[in-house]
Amino acid sequence: MREEIGDAEATQREAMERLKRVLREVRGEGDAAGLTPERRQAVKHLLSHASPTMIAQAEQELAGEGFTIEDLASACEVHLELFREAAERLRFDLPQGHPITQFELDHAAIFEALDRLRTAIGRSRSKASVASASGEIAEMERCVELLLAAENHNVRQENTLFPMLERYGIEQPPAIMWQEHTEMREVKKALEQALGERESIKRLVERVEPLAIRLAEEFALHSRKESQILYPAALELFSPEDWREIKDECDKLGYFASGLAQA
Ligand SMILES: [Fe+2]
Repeated sequence: MREEIGDAEATQREAMERLKRVLREVRGEGDAAGLTPERRQAVKHLLSHASPTMIAQAEQELAGEGFTIEDLASACEVHLELFREAAERLRFDLPQGHPITQFELDHAAIFEALDRLRTAIGRSRSKASVASASGEIAEMERCVELLLAAENHNVRQENTLFPMLERYGIEQPPAIMWQEHTEMREVKKALEQALGERESIKRLVERVEPLAIRLAEEFALHSRKESQILYPAALELFSPEDWREIKDECDKLGYFASGLAQA
């Protein structure tokens, strides 16, 4: 038994070392956008087989080796692309206006805001001052505003989908999702606060970028769990009356405006 545990640990360690090796290579090749299609495929393959904990631990160890937040951002981009592809493969065949259809539309709007936030941060890195980055900062503010408004998506789930799943005896997954909502809300608030402190553009980017990456990673994992576990379970268990009840409650709670103004 002891030996088996030892074996499992060795395999885990090996998988993590492979992951770190690939992440080091991505760093060596510049950014994720500059990777060849084969290389990109290899990175995706490894990431798709790694658990979130393993990725987090690998990133932690690489940070100890002097990896900067920009280096990790490249890996984050490949990682997010992977989630998006997985989400696109998993489409539910549901009518417009169905609560699940709306939840999925919300996810797409949140992804867009997270993408635009990271793009604006990336562009402001080359700016010399807060004044010359005013356009980028305004874009960051718009994105964070939408992300805070998108709390409405979580409130809708917490008041309809989660309690209904609990009624059917599914308690643990909604509890975890709820906990993640709370954690992500804290990151959004930290982002809002960091955006308000503008003594220099360098400091602003240093504060905002790790938060934006963390939120994007957390949201990607979170939304994947919802799409792959929670929604299919709900679609299998709930009756048409249940869905009507959920829809009524969602309509009462309202919907956040998912469009981001163009700069
Ligand atoms: Fe959620």
